[in-house]
Amino acid sequence: MKTILTTTAAMLLAGTCFAQAPQLTQGNIDGVIKAMTLEEKVTLVVGANRYAEIESGPDHAPGMPERKAQHVAKPKSEPQEEVVTAFSSGRVKGAAGDVVPVKRVGITTMVLADGPAGLRIDPTRKDDDQTYYCTAFPIGSLLSASWDPALTQRVTTAMGEEVHEYGADVLLAPAINIHRNPLCGRNFEYYSEDPLLAGLTAAAYIRGIQSQGVGTSLKHFAANNQETMRNGQNSSITERALREIYLKGFEIAVKDAQPWTIMTSYNKVNGVLSSENRWLITDVLRNEWGFKGFVMTDWWAEENGARQIEAGNDMLMPGTPHQFDEIIKAAQSGRLDMRYLDDCVRRILQVMVQSPTFLRYNYSNKPDLKAHAQVVRDAAPEGMVLLKNESVLPLKAGRKVALFGVPSYDIMVGGSGSGYVNRAYKVSLDEGLSAAGFKLDKQITAQYQDYVKGVKANQNENFWVVPVVPETAISAEDAAAAAKRNDVAIYSIGRMAGEGGDRKLVPGDWYLSDLEQKNIDALCDAFHKVGKKVIVLLNMGNIIDMNWSTQPDAVLHTWMGGQEAGHSIADVLAGKVSPSGKLPMTIATKYETYPSANDFPMSNNNPGDVNYDEDIFVGYRHFDRQPADILFPFGFGLSYTQFEYSDLKVSKQGSDITVSVKVTNTGKVAAKEVVQLYVSAPKGQIVKPVKELRAYAKTGLLKAKESEVVTMTVKVDDLRSFDNYLRQWVLDRGTYQFHVAASSQDIRLTATQDL
Ligand code: GLC
Repeated sequence: MKTILTTTAAMLLAGTCFAQAPQLTQGNIDGVIKAMTLEEKVTLVVGANRYAEIESGPDHAPGMPERKAQHVAKPKSEPQEEVVTAFSSGRVKGAAGDVVPVKRVGITTMVLADGPAGLRIDPTRKDDDQTYYCTAFPIGSLLSASWDPALTQRVTTAMGEEVHEYGADVLLAPAINIHRNPLCGRNFEYYSEDPLLAGLTAAAYIRGIQSQGVGTSLKHFAANNQETMRNGQNSSITERALREIYLKGFEIAVKDAQPWTIMTSYNKVNGVLSSENRWLITDVLRNEWGFKGFVMTDWWAEENGARQIEAGNDMLMPGTPHQFDEIIKAAQSGRLDMRYLDDCVRRILQVMVQSPTFLRYNYSNKPDLKAHAQVVRDAAPEGMVLLKNESVLPLKAGRKVALFGVPSYDIMVGGSGSGYVNRAYKVSLDEGLSAAGFKLDKQITAQYQDYVKGVKANQNENFWVVPVVPETAISAEDAAAAAKRNDVAIYSIGRMAGEGGDRKLVPGDWYLSDLEQKNIDALCDAFHKVGKKVIVLLNMGNIIDMNWSTQPDAVLHTWMGGQEAGHSIADVLAGKVSPSGKLPMTIATKYETYPSANDFPMSNNNPGDVNYDEDIFVGYRHFDRQPADILFPFGFGLSYTQFEYSDLKVSKQGSDITVSVKVTNTGKVAAKEVVQLYVSAPKGQIVKPVKELRAYAKTGLLKAKESEVVTMTVKVDDLRSFDNYLRQWVLDRGTYQFHVAASSQDIRLTATQDL
């Protein structure tokens, strides 16, 4: 009897205790905040890594830039049992960060995992014979090079399903910093030199991921356009260049797709760290653009927690004991007004209540990897850019191919750093071409396969360092013999890139290596001597010096196409798919002609302060004024057919301008066309570019002789410029020219509209 009474009393007491603590629901967030203690609030805003035994991540990864020593003291309060067991880190090994749950009020954890080209989690787990491989999707630059938001959304719908089924809540992507300079090490994750292309690609990316019930983290807000000294570097930029170029992509993505979260960048913007920058995070992002989610820091971007909280940077990832202690102290001393902290907690909880973990989604750990592999194979060709084709592509079925270049046999499917994906396999080009029915020269293929196998046996790959197999020489004799035995030569040039470092202005990086140049010389001499052709493939996440492109007969930029890349490239070379990608950046004749070359760390060794003195004149906005410096223009890409533009119509209805144009496939091969709309504004008080991309649209697959009327809409407000002096957007009155174009240097038709 006594036992029953005691038990009953205990249950009643426990019940009463819990009964006093409200349990989080969508409708009682403020009640929960009121019930939370200071410790519990700070527990929510500082990531779970503070409980970690040792600090892992960039500081301990080879090749990462040295960062100030971080003393990781053991937390005073050891993680309570229920916190540790509730931790997602036991659940999704390899995820980048976790939120610490506060079980007393029903706050769960959230799992935050990288990255832009697919989910990155550990592929195996201790005492678990299941594997957790993820799909390596095409990189960001390939998606933007497709100029096809619907394609991007298809890719990320599959990616989002994987995030959902592996139990994560937020994917730390998309990454959309502007390609200010071609040497930026993370350009492969980013989209373009143009903010409209970047913003619309990002919005489609976010819609796809979030359609699966998981969140995204639009990053890195803002102006993280170089990796050198990224943890303290200051981007010095006018407000006009910020608003028209470096923030515009974020603005478009936030307004169009409302990402669940935003990640601030490591660097300073005009002297203030992004994560402590109230103007950026609260005044612009929230009060002007209406961003509804929460803001997190980049990993270990820990400066002053109180200032970060005050700025509106809600979450400090991955979390350190130092940050926890510092914020507690600031709140207790009155340095940090609790209303700021409550705002952060509120915004986190508003996102959390829609997350799969909070909704107790019963994820399967079995995403449809096979279906996603097909998505990758079908998507990659859509972004590949045909830069040159002198009657050699597509190749007829069954042709005898001399396949050269190490990347043809050890293809680069993605970059390194947080954007890396632990995939189960990759399809290199030799495999893809054989599967497509081409006859590879056995002698050449065997030599490369043995060489690559031998080198890779002594290499190990991890997400921070993806080793590259060194290129080998092609002798004149081998080239001549191959030219006799085969119909055509294919040569791949590869470049790896990754987070934490920029590329270099040296042979083997921006320039061809001497070996690569000699190989191209040897192949072109030998094959051209016997009237045969040479195709060069670019397998990289960015661009390189292209002055050698006069030598081969065809050049195809294949980017890093994900794990099925070998098949995707073969599909294009065989003509199964006509290339329809267009360059999302300008390829200049010389690196020095990029205006940012005057002030970019890796080319002028000025790591600390980067002055964006080119202002808004980035990419084609600059090169339109120096067209002689363009080798391959922004928006350029050949097809296996030709297109004719006709019946351009421009009309204004209220605040919208509608532009329509008929596109006809005048060639023999079915293909898609990307129609670009550039607008030239009348002269005004401030200097303006010759023209700016204001809309674009990709046709469906047009058969020979088939036409499609493409319609694009532009808001009048989107034609304004930002006046630094007045600090406001200004629309100049006068005549606007609307150009429909196949590239920024190939205007097909123009019409005018007075505004
Ligand atoms: C990295 C990257 C960021 C990534 C995060 C988590 O340093 O800058 O893009 O999402 O840390 O890995």
